[in-house]
Amino acid sequence: MTVEAVAVAAERRWGIVVALVIASLVLVMVITGVHWAAMPPSRVETVDPRTLHLKGEFVEANLGTSVGADGKVVVRLIAQQYSFQPACLLVPAGIPVTFRGTSTDAVHGFVVAYTNANVMLVPGFVATFTTTFRKPGEHAMPCHEYCGSGHEGMWARVQVIPADEFRSRAGRGERLTCVPR
Ligand code: CUA
Repeated sequence: MTVEAVAVAAERRWGIVVALVIASLVLVMVITGVHWAAMPPSRVETVDPRTLHLKGEFVEANLGTSVGADGKVVVRLIAQQYSFQPACLLVPAGIPVTFRGTSTDAVHGFVVAYTNANVMLVPGFVATFTTTFRKPGEHAMPCHEYCGSGHEGMWARVQVIPADEFRSRAGRGERLTCVPR
């Protein structure tokens, strides 16, 4: 066998292996997409990052924790290089809390320590998830997507307070925040 023939045979074997890998990945995508109706992680809800601070849901006065007319607890937040706004989120224990967040610049994300809260914040999209914090306490909330030179200093806090304390504060119309003034 000539050197060239050995090389051609090796290339052909490699080509077959790669074709099989690609075919199996396509098969997995088709099966999960068609059979299980799998979707990308968050709902596709868009928002214009250029006007985020000026109008709409994510203006400064609307950020943080709020209780809707239906009693649902919603936390709205913005991520930007290199901070979260607000820097401290006040939430109740034992009541479902819905987070709605987005980014003004790069891709950020956050986890809330010791909970299942874990989400990516992509400019132009609203990330939504609902979770329930089991007991009162304070958790660190670091950015977990590398977003630039200040990434490791980008984090916020989540303060979980008892549900009745939360309800009475909300009932008095107090601002539901733990950001120090
Ligand atoms: Cu924001 Cu890392």
